[in-house]
Amino acid sequence: MTSIVRNQWYVAAYGREVGRELFSRTICGESILFWRTEAGEVTAMSDRCVHRRFPLSQAPSHLVGDTVVCGYHGFTYGADGGCVAVPGQTRVPRTARLKTYPVFEQDSFVWVFIGDAEKAEATAIPRAPWLAQDGWTTVSGMEPLAARASLLVDNLMDLSHETYLHGGYIGTPEVANTPITTEVDDAAGVVYVSRHMADAECPPFYAKSTGITGRITRWQDIEFTPPCLYKLHSRIAPVGVLPDDDGTDPDAFHVEVVYAITPETESTTHDFWAVARDFALDDEGVSDFLRESNRTVVLQDVVALDVLEKVLTGEPDGYQELSINIDTGGLAARRIIARLAAEGTGEAAPAAPPARTPAGVRSPAAATR
Ligand code: FES
Ligand SMILES: [Fe+2]
Repeated sequence: MTSIVRNQWYVAAYGREVGRELFSRTICGESILFWRTEAGEVTAMSDRCVHRRFPLSQAPSHLVGDTVVCGYHGFTYGADGGCVAVPGQTRVPRTARLKTYPVFEQDSFVWVFIGDAEKAEATAIPRAPWLAQDGWTTVSGMEPLAARASLLVDNLMDLSHETYLHGGYIGTPEVANTPITTEVDDAAGVVYVSRHMADAECPPFYAKSTGITGRITRWQDIEFTPPCLYKLHSRIAPVGVLPDDDGTDPDAFHVEVVYAITPETESTTHDFWAVARDFALDDEGVSDFLRESNRTVVLQDVVALDVLEKVLTGEPDGYQELSINIDTGGLAARRIIARLAAEGTGEAAPAAPPARTPAGVRSPAAATR
């Protein structure tokens, strides 16, 4: 059975990746061709010519105005996927049409809808406004992951791994030692996991970018909208400094760490990452440092998850995991993803998450933040 949730929007690319060159990316097992029309609109269509399946992203395929010319025998397609010319005859077969995909550009991302196009509702796309908003500066990238998307979901929902996997970058002992609170909004399909550290060591990632030299108050508030968009609202302030009573927070540094988790195939994933900050907005040195550091951290996860994928692939089905308190958010995410997957296929959702309920952990739905 597929683990990929259909009838969903996924991040396919950054807007900057799609232009007047033919660009291809496999999303949820489908090879999709992206390009911009002369008016600047992003279009998405199958990357396989209907004639003999030649990839339309493959040279010498090319754009002519707002048409794509197949580089093999010259079938030519318009921005709506319809074939407008074939070689050697004037009649274009009625079935000569590429599958097209709903696309929507928002918050620096190109989102694509995978599933029944008539179910695509752009208002359902979760937001990450900081990535393209005045008052914030963002660095971003994408790393290919040779592991299934669910392993990245597990990884991001449980940040206690920062202490061990990312020591010297973003991990300090307090991350693993501080308990989390979890809240699930089943109606909205959002999982919240919070870890507020009142008095913590400042990891190099934040010390070098903010200039804070002493200990910090560090808040990590995760907001995950399965299956694709993960946001970590990160607040860093000198120890003891809290937001003002009116909710403003002028003495803290805010970082929005955004991940888009897009399945490429059943066992590989596009790991989009972005780090937006509300300080040192024009400081190129800080941008370079955060870009390099975050990429290093992401690659530490990639190495670990690629290994884990190999291990899991080699094991018999039905192995028993052991979950503890730190896994509450991850288990809640799995439950929502299982429900979405069932809705996407019309099958009934599994009754229980595919793991043992952690001893002493309240139902995620009943837990408070
Ligand atoms: S494969 Fe594209 S025109 Fe023949
Ligand atoms: Fe990590």
